[in-house]
Amino acid sequence: MSTHNSEAVAVPRHVAIVMDGNGRWARRRFLPRVVGHEQGMQTLLRVLDDFAARGVEYLTVFAFSSENWKRPEEEVSGIMGLVLTGVSRYLRKLAAEGVRIRVIGDHSALSPKLRAAWDEAERSTVANTRIHLSVAFNYGGRWDIVQACRRALADGLVPEQIDEAALAARMALSFAPDPDLFIRTGGEMRVSNFLLWQTAYAELYFSDCLWPDFGGAEVEAALAAYACRERRFGGVREDESVPQGA
Ligand code: IPE
Ligand code: IPE
Ligand code: MG
Repeated sequence: MSTHNSEAVAVPRHVAIVMDGNGRWARRRFLPRVVGHEQGMQTLLRVLDDFAARGVEYLTVFAFSSENWKRPEEEVSGIMGLVLTGVSRYLRKLAAEGVRIRVIGDHSALSPKLRAAWDEAERSTVANTRIHLSVAFNYGGRWDIVQACRRALADGLVPEQIDEAALAARMALSFAPDPDLFIRTGGEMRVSNFLLWQTAYAELYFSDCLWPDFGGAEVEAALAAYACRERRFGGVREDESVPQGA
């Protein structure tokens, strides 16, 4: 429910989130890191609804980066296991709530079991429209640009035909408008190879909150900060532009 009645408050159509801080959340409690990831999954399920209720149409979350394979094998397999249990436990509920799930990233390195779980998540939500949840898994922004170039070449494009539109149409999020708001939790102020191409004009928002602690109040704070931003896309402020004929 909106707390503003008369004035229109800008709501981002597309929010991208680097869900960071799971490991620190666990460490502070002397728990294994994977417990932090489990809490992080619960957070996602909670805030997804908050964003949908506020009118956000697309939510894209960084769940596993192409660099996260560098982590201890126990943590990596723990994350993979979480995806499997998450899909079997929560997919039905998400599907019933109108969530459309897509997975973006390099699937080729994933186990057949994991690929099957992600395929099922995509297939069983294909008709949903309430909110588009894209899970970036084994995703890297540089990988995305490279795969778009490869697809352009495979489609037979010659150098003169390769332009921004040709690549944008082949990027992993080609179905969505570019993210309006980029949120990173956990206090780090870096992009860590998330959506490099797509965030060219995203508004950046950093929160010290560790991802498992992120909740409705933090969602509101991020959306309120966004509503105060003035986007220019390289132009000038609206009230500074010279009226026609002046
Ligand atoms: C982000 O949390 C989730 C993944 C990378 C899978 P981290 O695991 O990076 O948490 P910190 O940064 O170590 O606290
Ligand atoms: C980015 O967080 C990846 C995800 C949240 C999935 P990292 O924790 O991996 O990023 P760095 O290593 O701090 O840059
Ligand atoms: Mg981290």
